[in-house]
Amino acid sequence: MSLPAGYTAGEVVRCAVERNEALDNPDYRELTIRAPGIARRAVPGQFVHVRLPGATDPFLRRPFSISGLEGDRLTLLFKQVGALTTQMAGLASGGEVDVLGPLGQGYDLTPEPVDRAFLVGGGYGVAPLLVLARALHRRTLAGEITLLVGARAARHLVWRDRLATEVGWLKSAVATDDGSAGYRGTVLDLLADRMAAGKGSVALFACGPMPMLAAIAGRWPDLPAQVAVENQMGCGIGVCLGCVLPMAGATGVGRYSRICCEGPVYKAQAVDWAACPAR
Ligand SMILES: Cc1cc2nc3c(=O)[nH]c(=O)nc-3n(C[C@H](O)[C@H](O)[C@H](O)COP(=O)(O)OP(=O)(O)OC[C@H]3O[C@@H](n4cnc5c(N)ncnc54)[C@H](O)[C@@H]3O)c2cc1C
Ligand code: FES
Repeated sequence: MSLPAGYTAGEVVRCAVERNEALDNPDYRELTIRAPGIARRAVPGQFVHVRLPGATDPFLRRPFSISGLEGDRLTLLFKQVGALTTQMAGLASGGEVDVLGPLGQGYDLTPEPVDRAFLVGGGYGVAPLLVLARALHRRTLAGEITLLVGARAARHLVWRDRLATEVGWLKSAVATDDGSAGYRGTVLDLLADRMAAGKGSVALFACGPMPMLAAIAGRWPDLPAQVAVENQMGCGIGVCLGCVLPMAGATGVGRYSRICCEGPVYKAQAVDWAACPAR
């Protein structure tokens, strides 16, 4: 299988860690690295593939959304779940990470402007959404931009402090299943409420667990929705086929799409959610 037309697979760089910050949720941290070539090319929704120089466990790189872009720097929001993220948590400023990127196709920022854009995140799925919100705002692609974040309970939310202090053009709200913070219910119920409370054209942008993305496609089939998936990956550059996602209504070679190079962002209706193994 060849790479998508016009696609370039990024560059491999050893990057110096400038900051490794603890966040409001102790399960998460944020790593700021200096990576001029990547930071200047990256677009919202793209990711980088990371390992530590010289480390053999994990053997393969791991993917992380780009959660912040500023000049020559990029930021990775990560949840400590396994070998690499534990090593990342221990990196001091001046340490190094080995980064391949930027990779994948980001959110499509060419559609017609809409009255209201809703950005929906669950878990570390919030990671690409602030960069996306700023890009939508900068390009005046939405009259009103609202970021909605969901979790099972307050202790699983991340960036609550940051969302509370974001600038005036960005509205935000959180939802928790048990009502321990914000709206009681799922983030999609909160989304439905917010959409019903206003008027005008709407576009949806989401990133998070498969069931949440599948539910967006099922509940709002007529709305333009772009979703970023976070399946596990191997090579990250379109070679191993370890990341494929079934496409709706497609057969033959077009049936499976490689999320590392044809994703991770898809139109919600393009995916055959019922056939996704991670559901
Ligand atoms: C496009 C994309 C973007 C992503 N963006 C982010 C992001 O912004 N922030 C973020 O924190 N994460 C993100 N992820 C997820 C991140 O890549 C994974 O969490 C990564 O695997 C962590 O690496 P690790 O070595 O620390 O943990 P791993 O060892 O890879 O473990 C990850 C998870 O898998 C489980 N696991 C590991 N081995 C096994 C096994 N043998 N059997 C069953 N379960 C197992 C672990 O318990 C853990 O829950 C993204 C993934 C994708 C595809
Ligand atoms: S991770 Fe290897 S093809 Fe996508």
